[in-house]
Formats: sequence, structure tokens, C-alpha cells
Amino acid sequence: MFTFGKRSAKFLIALSIVAGLISYPAHAQAQKAAAKASPATQASANDWWKGAVVYEIYPRSFQDSNGDGIGDLNGITSRLDYLKVLGVDAIWLSPIYPSPQVDFGYDISDYENIDPAYGTLADFDRLVAEAKKRDIKIVMDMVMNHTSDKHKWFIESASSKTNPKRDWYVWKDGKAPGVPPNNWQSDFGHSAWQFDPKTNQYYYHKFYIQQPDLNWDNPQVRKAMYDTCRFWMKRGVYGFRLDAIPTLFEDPQDRDEQVVKDANGNPKINAYGDQELITEGMTDNLPKVHDVEKELRQVINEFPGRILIGETYFSNVADLRRSYGIKNDELHLPMDFQVGMINKLDPAAFRLRINEAETQINGNEPLFVFDNHDNPRLDARYGDGVHDLEIERMISTVLFTSRDTALFYYGDEIGMKTTPPTRIEDVKDPVGRTGWPKEKGRDGERTPMQWTPGPNAGFTTGTPWLPIPPTYKTVNVETEVSDYDSLLNWYKQLIELRRNNPVVATGKNVMLNTSDTKVLAWARQIDGQPTVVIACNFTAEPQKFAFDLSGTNLTTKQAKTLMKTPGSADPASLDEVNLPPFGVYIGQVQ
Ligand code: NOJ
Repeated sequence: MFTFGKRSAKFLIALSIVAGLISYPAHAQAQKAAAKASPATQASANDWWKGAVVYEIYPRSFQDSNGDGIGDLNGITSRLDYLKVLGVDAIWLSPIYPSPQVDFGYDISDYENIDPAYGTLADFDRLVAEAKKRDIKIVMDMVMNHTSDKHKWFIESASSKTNPKRDWYVWKDGKAPGVPPNNWQSDFGHSAWQFDPKTNQYYYHKFYIQQPDLNWDNPQVRKAMYDTCRFWMKRGVYGFRLDAIPTLFEDPQDRDEQVVKDANGNPKINAYGDQELITEGMTDNLPKVHDVEKELRQVINEFPGRILIGETYFSNVADLRRSYGIKNDELHLPMDFQVGMINKLDPAAFRLRINEAETQINGNEPLFVFDNHDNPRLDARYGDGVHDLEIERMISTVLFTSRDTALFYYGDEIGMKTTPPTRIEDVKDPVGRTGWPKEKGRDGERTPMQWTPGPNAGFTTGTPWLPIPPTYKTVNVETEVSDYDSLLNWYKQLIELRRNNPVVATGKNVMLNTSDTKVLAWARQIDGQPTVVIACNFTAEPQKFAFDLSGTNLTTKQAKTLMKTPGSADPASLDEVNLPPFGVYIGQVQ
């Protein structure tokens, strides 16, 4: 209905977003058609996630609707038209369940309800229904590794050694009085064992003390969690992002983890002052995780078109491949952070990782992730402080024009900046207090969405739970919508390109100019359709770039420009593409 990239469409988009006037009759027709669809069409409808655009919302920070300074579900519903115009297919909601909010929702005290700070189940149902009208799917965060210590299961479990729920969590005797069972550590600092004087045992917590780990060897735990998934799928949820899924199990012999040594043979010390340990195979990535993933896939399969996304920070492609399942019967989309978290503009590293995802995961769909609520934003990991806009444009080009499902984080599309607290007394994320000043926590990437240049950036009429970064005057949706060359419009155009051009949506990736140290270039190809080529200048100097098409069977060097860095020239041929600093060129070979 809307054509981005045309100046005439801008006014309509801006008006639609601001006034919330967009309706989707075309979509309603498509839905009716889908209802009558043949089995083949239905099968491809169930594959909606391939090549899809997924948007992570941190609900606390997206849009407040009731003036309490905390984002909520009705706020998200009020912004669905914005997301529709942007081109989002699915929203991943960080946890909205009842929670003491120690870890801002990742400590769940009731898996089948909504935290009053975010709204009610009725608000949630309305969000799902309104999203459905716009053909946007809702994916929930599912935290299975641990609950809150205020969850009734844990309260029962902690009440006595003989309580029927005792074995729902990981309880152990200490090695000796005052000595925990072993040296395992919490990811958030210090021992992973918390002593309970009432029952004289320790419980294990991979994360905060208030997040006791569930015992996944207990079939009752599995059943309870699987039923929870069913509960949400019946309410129209399209799948789950599985929090910390590789950490479900621990070494059955409770052996100590090995200490990481530095070059001089001394123990490495982390930001919390603890020795660094090798967690692999001990408290992370145990083979039994795959059994659970298979069971979960069965549960998910009860509801057509539902998906499993994994929070999988793997350090090698073999682990990534494995988590799709040997028979493709585990996760649909384990997150591939190996591209997004390179954190250095090194073309060789990008080329290697993108190519691995293309060639070494059994042809499965990669899920590239460059940003989320746990890591400093793109500016802090890739920016140089001078060309951040150009760099963000380039990173988004890699994300949206590679063969992948593309996941991005709220605010990336306008170029929100990491804004960490400057004083320990302002820190909200507890890990930032434990690790201060080396580790300032995650508040910096969780600041409220910047909608307007007006009061509180249009996020709230109250006092925002985290301060609004000073950049909001220029970095905001309202300002960027009406600037044709803004990052927001670049995102819209990229998403539109991937939606309208099947080669960009699903064509294979072929890396080009494979020994170039300055420019990352690749082609996207489908037999019988025009090839699309992409070049990104990874340096702060202009580059004159010649595409080497020897790996593609192409004989012509003539191309039509599809997108390019604003202000740059159309090349006469693919032998002479002038790329500005961190510039981008996308062309369709003629
Ligand atoms: C990963 C989540 O993304 C993070 O925010 C959380 O603190 C940990 N898992 C523990 O749930």
C-alpha cells in the first residue's frame, strides 16, 4: 500500500503514524484468501518466519500509556501502526509476566498472567488481536531455566526438604559447613550457590540469587513449562524466544569448573572480581538440552506456524548447526550472534561468519542479531563517534540484505545511542552495582524509546523509569519520518526491498572479492532472476570499488541502483563504484 523511497509517500506515512490512521483492508482480504488456501499455500504460510523481520520490544521502555513512567501493553498496541509501516512481521516481547522485577521480568513469579505494571490479560488479548489485524505476530519470551524466588513453586520447594516441589529446583549439600557444593559462579557475579539456613542446603542460581534454577531432570517441571507454552499459544502467540536455553542443565557430578589463565599463567579476573571459569559442558551447553529442545518442538508442532527462537550465544558454527536438530527437529531459529557481535568493522570476520551461516547450517534459516537489551547498542560496539549514522546504515544493510531472518532491537531504526548511568546511585540493573565501575549494567541500552522531540520524547507523561537520553531532540521518530535521508527511512527502504524483491528475501548469499580488506561485498542469487549485489565500505576513507563477479557466472557489469548511501553517485558500471566512508551500494545486475 505504501511505497517507501518516494518522497511523495512521506507525508502519508508521517500522517498515518502520527494520527494512527492506517487501516489494512488489503491485509484483511489476504487473510480471507489464506483461510481458503490450498495445503501448499498453508505450508508456506506456516513458514512466515523465513526471511521475516522481527522487532524486539523491551516493554518497560517502549510506550507508556498511563503516565506511571513504565511502558505497557496498551502503549505497544498504540504503536502497532508505526511497526506496520516500518515493515515488521513479528514482535518479540521481553517478559511481561508477573515479576518482582529484580531482573526486570526475567524473574517470573507467575507464568500465566501479566504483570499489573504492563496491564492485564485482556490488554494482552487486545494487543494480539490488533497485531493480527495488521498481520504482525507476537512472540513471547519464555524463561525456562529459572523462576523468581517469589514463584509459588520455589516458595514450596524451599519450605522443607520433603516438600513435593523440593526436587523442582537444584538443591545440594555444601562441601563442608559454610562451603558451597563447588566453584560454580553466577553470570551476574560471585557464587552460583545460595545457602538456605532453614533447610541447611544450597540452591543453584545461574543468574541473580532471586532466580533459582529449575531442575530440568524432573519430568513434572518439563510438563509444567510445556503446558505454559500451550496456554500462550492458545491465546494466539506465535512462538517463543527461549531465554538462556543452553543453561538448562548442569554437570551431574557437580565437578568444579576450570579457571581461565592469562598469558602468564595467572587466573583471569572478571569485572566482578571473580576468577573466570570455563562453563562449557559444565553449566552451559550440556547435551541434554537437545532432548528438551526436541520435546518443545513437539509441543510447538501442536499449533501450526509457531516457532522456537533460541537465545544461543555460541562461539562456533557447529553448536549453532546442532541446535536446529540433527533432523531439523529442535529450534527453528537459534540466534546467530557470531556475526552481530563481532564488534569490530573487520570485513574478513564478517565474510567468514556470514558464509558459515550460509554454508554450514544444513541450509537452515540463519537468524542474525546485532543488538538486544543485554548489550551496548550499535553505536558503542561499532561506532567511531564521527560516522555513527553511516555505520548504522551499513550494519542494517548487512542485516536486511543477507539471507536471514532479521532481528533488530527497538530504537535501532532511529539510531538510539547507548546511554549508561554516570553514577552508581542511578543504576537500576543490579549487575551494574555489583560490577561498578567496570560493568555498569544494561540500563544504557534500555532507555525509553524516543518518539518525539517533545517532553520525555513522547514516551510518558510521567517520570520515565530510566532517564531520556539527551539525543532525543534529534534522534526520534517524528523528526526522522520527515527527513528523507534519515536512518528510519533507510530501514523502511531496506525492509521494503527485502519484501518486494524475492532475491533479496531468499536468494543464496555468494561472497565476492573475498580477499578485500576494506569492502565487504556479496551477491544474492536465485536461478533465472536478476542478481542483486551489495558492497559496504568498512573504512572511514572513500573507496573506488570494482565488483569481482567471477564466483557468480555473471558476464555483465551493468547494474541498476536499488539503494545507495544518500548523496553518492550511481556508478557507470560495477567496475567503478564510488563508496563514501562507510558507504553502501545495492544494485541489480542487468
Ligand atoms: C538472558 C536475558 O536476555 C537477560 O536479560 C537475563 O538477565 C538473563 N537471560 C537471565 O534471565
